[in-house]
Amino acid sequence: MTTREHLILGIESSCDETAAAVVAGGRRILSSVVASQVDIHRKYGGVVPELASREHLRQIVPVVREAIAQAGVELRDVDAVAVTRGPGLIGALLVGITYGKVLAMALGKPLVGVNHLEGHVHAVLLEAHGAGKRIELPAVCLIVSGGHTILYYVKSEPVNGAGKFSYARIGGTRDDAAGEAYDKVARMLALGYPGGPVIDKLAAHGNPRAVRFADPKIKGNPYDFSFSGIKTAVLYHLRRNPQLQPEIDARQQALARGERGADALRALSSPETLDLIASFQRSVVENLVDRTLAAAGEHGVRTVLVSGGVAANSELRRSFETESARRGISSYFPSRALSTDNAAMIAAAGHARFLAGDRADVTLEAEAVLPLV
Ligand code: KG4
Ligand code: ZN
Repeated sequence: MTTREHLILGIESSCDETAAAVVAGGRRILSSVVASQVDIHRKYGGVVPELASREHLRQIVPVVREAIAQAGVELRDVDAVAVTRGPGLIGALLVGITYGKVLAMALGKPLVGVNHLEGHVHAVLLEAHGAGKRIELPAVCLIVSGGHTILYYVKSEPVNGAGKFSYARIGGTRDDAAGEAYDKVARMLALGYPGGPVIDKLAAHGNPRAVRFADPKIKGNPYDFSFSGIKTAVLYHLRRNPQLQPEIDARQQALARGERGADALRALSSPETLDLIASFQRSVVENLVDRTLAAAGEHGVRTVLVSGGVAANSELRRSFETESARRGISSYFPSRALSTDNAAMIAAAGHARFLAGDRADVTLEAEAVLPLV
């Protein structure tokens, strides 16, 4: 029996990042290349599907080549190709899937289809294992990004000497994803796109208790989320405070001049605006942390995993750390680079599926909606 670590080439193209990575043994990142399209979609304030597909087509070959080169390996050294099959934008997914299929066929290597959400779960596991930390499963995992806000119960059973993971949905957003709320509020306030990183920085300069937002009223599942109410509440707050409009116009002009830095935007923001931003962030973070930790308590788990673009948020990290410690729960986040979409997480999730004997073939299809089980 060989003790060599399996090399997995991961490919990700579900939204607006074209990414490829080589990961050894499901835990050692040899390369992780991400070509972001954010500059292309910025002027539309969101991802434009047709433009995304076109850009993936332009990027996929150089990005995969770069990942192989940076890893210092040859394509023929790869043991399997893992590719995101959904959920995501159909046209975008098809680019990665088609390229992954052709590559696997040409190389005579196995192809593994990966659920993008499972990738986000593995982003956390990958780095913790890589750092020699043992994460106790089962866990509750919060995936929180521009497209998703969803809670899973994650467990793993030994199969073929490896871990076979399974997932059960506990709750999720009824309307907007948390990242979407960040992006929409940033748009109302003229803070640029994507909104999360700037709001994260500006919120530190405001009073998070200045504006009170009512807790969303959600009937039924206590682990569901709702973020459209707070977005509307920010809009009403701005209507009630027309004195904030001139600074919104000033920031809009700054953005048009290409001045997108948090410091430049902060210099054009009054204390009232900074208070509004801090209060918005506090409300979103409290919602995410409270429901996730309540779900962990209900399911009797001692581990919480948090992943996705919004997991890069400083306040969310701080709040999870203090609140979970108070309840004897350990919370884990990926580094900021692995929080947002990347292919190392797809390779890591693909590695677990590869060991469990999961194989795809030329019939693998892109699926816009794909539940994680
Ligand atoms: O995972 P991701 O790269 O793409 C998907 O949506 O799948 O996440 C992007 C989202 C955007 O909505 C962005 O505003 C948000 O993550 N985001 C943040 C931060 N960094 C990115 N939200 C809050 N705080 C941040 N630091
Ligand atoms: Zn994602």
